[in-house]
Amino acid sequence: MPGAGLEDVVAAATAISDIDGKLGRLFYVGYDIHDLAPNSTFEEVVYLLHHLALPTQGELDKLTDNLISERDLNPWVAALMPTFASESSPMSMLRTTVSAMSAHDPDGWDNSAEANYRKAMRLISRLPNAIGSYHRLRNGLEPLRPNPKLTHAGNLLWMITGEEPDEDAARVMDICLILHADHTMNASTFAARVAASTLSDIHSAMTAAIATLKGPLHGGANEAVMKMLLEIGDPSKAPDYIRKALAEKKKIMGFGHRVYKTEDPRATHLRRLSKEIGERIGDMRWFEISQAIEQTVMEEKGLYPNVDFYAASVYYCLGLPIDLFTPIFAASRVAGWTAHAREQYADNRLIRPESEYIGPRNQSYRPIDQRG
Ligand code: COA
Repeated sequence: MPGAGLEDVVAAATAISDIDGKLGRLFYVGYDIHDLAPNSTFEEVVYLLHHLALPTQGELDKLTDNLISERDLNPWVAALMPTFASESSPMSMLRTTVSAMSAHDPDGWDNSAEANYRKAMRLISRLPNAIGSYHRLRNGLEPLRPNPKLTHAGNLLWMITGEEPDEDAARVMDICLILHADHTMNASTFAARVAASTLSDIHSAMTAAIATLKGPLHGGANEAVMKMLLEIGDPSKAPDYIRKALAEKKKIMGFGHRVYKTEDPRATHLRRLSKEIGERIGDMRWFEISQAIEQTVMEEKGLYPNVDFYAASVYYCLGLPIDLFTPIFAASRVAGWTAHAREQYADNRLIRPESEYIGPRNQSYRPIDQRG
């Protein structure tokens, strides 16, 4: 039987992304994340993940225009938002919204490759609107119209905060979206591919992915990190806090990774962004607490930070509400999830693993009135 948690099991062949866990490297279609993060844009990465090649300027313009033109929510979906805002947590809202979006997608139940590409672009385009509308409604505010002059990242900030971001803030968000866009066979991508492998529709595959990302051992860790930073409150208190938590056998959120045995390359960029944004807004507290935690966890456990650790302070300094950190992760990862679902459809075989039975055998059935 494979290791618990399917460790080391290869569940699919993919041309979308690749990790070298020993060297701490991540590639999208063979392009190093260390080249993509400083030089690319989220829109370009969406193209790369879906077309398995970098776009020409014309191709990028076409995809960008498409993403901008699809930003409005269907009125039926928009009408659900007030109920979500009063009744539902952000990730539950997102999961159910994406599921609901299937009812009014212009391509209906067409599961052709062409329709699935259009559906994928719509999903990528609309998630920031769903998150922003929900957030504003729960604060008693009217949802905003998407701003076609802004990039995908800039529009995401606009729809949530209600402020047009400056170029620096929009670029920080853009890099965060690039870094979260895909990550091989993580739990949510696996969930998406399992659903797609039954030839269920792409909205169902995305619903499964969001449900899986919701858990604190996957996407939910970034929120838990920020709560920990707030609880610690001061860099000098971090070492004792961490030692006590480890002595109590608690997991420190934002550390450890199934695949990386060294630094997660995404954390390298997010650490830098956390420092830079702290300097820019004149509040280094969250970066400094993060550094103190990182040092203590390394001393005590030899563990490296993962993508969620420094993302927390970056998002917080961008003015994003803590309980939207995981939906924002989803707003980026939907680029990878949809690419993986399309890859699965293109060369499909039902994903159906075996299990090892460990229960009792050969039991004799007794009628209910004879059971003691
Ligand atoms: N804090 C403290 N100890 C940790 C740890 C953490 N964040 N992550 C791993 N460890 C320890 C485990 O306790 C275990 O130690 P042991 O062998 O002494 O029991 C060992 O490292 C292996 O951990 P394990 O949980 O088996 O690794 P995994 O591959 O199953 O899990 C994660 C990987 C990411 C789920 C795990 O590291 C974790 O829970 N991290 C915190 C949540 C998080 O940040 N998730 C986001 C992932 S991108």
